[in-house]
Amino acid sequence: LPDAEVIVVSNREPYIHNDVDGEIRIQRPASGLVTALEPITRACGGIWIAHGSGSADRRSVDEKDHVAVPPDAPSYVLRRIWLTDEEVEGYYFGLANEGLWPLCHIAFIRPAFRAADWQHYVAVNRKFADAIVAEAKSPNPLVLVQDYHFALVPKMVRESLPDATIITFWHIPWPNPEMFSICPWREEILSGLLSSSILGFHTQFHCINFLDSVDRFLECHIDREHSTVTTGASTTLIRPYPISIEWPAAALAGQPDIAGCRKAVYAKFNLSEDIRLAIGVERFDYTKGIPDRFRAVESLLENHPEWIGRFCLLQIAAPSRAQLAAYQAVQVEAQDVARAINDRFGRDGWQPIILIARHHDAAEICTLFRAADLCVVTSLHDGMNLVAKEFVAARDDDDGVLILSTFAGASRELLEALIVNPYDIRGMGEAIHQGLSMSSDQRRDRMRLMREMVAEYNIYFWAGRMLMDAARIRKRQGIEK
Ligand code: G6P
Repeated sequence: LPDAEVIVVSNREPYIHNDVDGEIRIQRPASGLVTALEPITRACGGIWIAHGSGSADRRSVDEKDHVAVPPDAPSYVLRRIWLTDEEVEGYYFGLANEGLWPLCHIAFIRPAFRAADWQHYVAVNRKFADAIVAEAKSPNPLVLVQDYHFALVPKMVRESLPDATIITFWHIPWPNPEMFSICPWREEILSGLLSSSILGFHTQFHCINFLDSVDRFLECHIDREHSTVTTGASTTLIRPYPISIEWPAAALAGQPDIAGCRKAVYAKFNLSEDIRLAIGVERFDYTKGIPDRFRAVESLLENHPEWIGRFCLLQIAAPSRAQLAAYQAVQVEAQDVARAINDRFGRDGWQPIILIARHHDAAEICTLFRAADLCVVTSLHDGMNLVAKEFVAARDDDDGVLILSTFAGASRELLEALIVNPYDIRGMGEAIHQGLSMSSDQRRDRMRLMREMVAEYNIYFWAGRMLMDAARIRKRQGIEK
């Protein structure tokens, strides 16, 4: 699509300007969406529209609310949208994160649907749609709408730009129709999304759930053979596009060799040389299964006491959506569980769990991945989970074991991981034991296969497949030659 004008839209912005003691610091957010989309936008150019959430964001834009990014080598424009505190409360914390997030993730957290939040969600979707239309220079831009914050945007944009190619990607799971039916605005959400030219999910399973939801609640024609939904004159292609990461990972540049990383991390955390290290990295979110992962460490030490004093799980948990009760509860639970296990087993300067609740940048995380024997990704439910792929990308020595939840989309691709059920504490403990006991040959055989997979099916492949489908649609419409 050489001539297409590209407009990316997401809630979370790729660069956040924050005021830290009077100085402007640029932060990269902990967001799988941003990790995936940023290299693509850098390569395509164009404009990325997102919520300006940083304390120094307003000071860093021009009169059009534009700022050129990446800051050190600009290749696209970030357009910031300003939201009031009430809008953030209702649209982001309320409808998006207390309604749609628990609706789409099976984590047994009850979704909350409040009419006032919905009003804000509609208004903020309108604000973003208006910005897309205002920024569009041509009648047929390629609009890449990201995630559950913007289910209504495709329809709103379509009303003003009927010839736009709208690709919407839903980064989280889609529930079954029974579950989806509890959303009071289910028809509005479905028909909003169905103004997209293409609607992408990570897995075939989520596509089927979506088609089943449409089947149950809307009058339209579903062609399951071609995976399309036709409403009136418009047709939407519903397809799985498993998201991925940049390859080779940018964070690898400038990393010490594996021995160097290990030395630095072991010194920093005061770990003795004979300790085997597992690493967990995520936002502090209840979908990630952090307390049960800790319980799995307890089970490991109970059932395989030879690891007492010789194993440590280093858990990085970036604070996230922390004003919501369910997020505060998981933080408290994780801290309590970690403390109890450390009290029970810890001794002479050794503790089995180190929990660090702060944001780390990509380079720091890459160093941790390279220092670890194991990476533990035991989400209760996850659209894809890019941490698993980032760990694989960090291991250019072909070593390291990945323990991966069967309920993360990534388990459909990373078949050589040790796949676990995150509700089975004993089973997870056994998987950690198995990972620690594997021979170096076994580890390398598995890691090599996973690295081949991520290297080939990288983020450029993901975008390429979607853009090829878009190009076909545009040819049919006579937009591209
Ligand atoms: C998930 C969502 C993203 C979101 C990220 C971080 O990956 O799919 O849309 O950006 O979590 O969450 P936050 O609410 O901080 O943007």
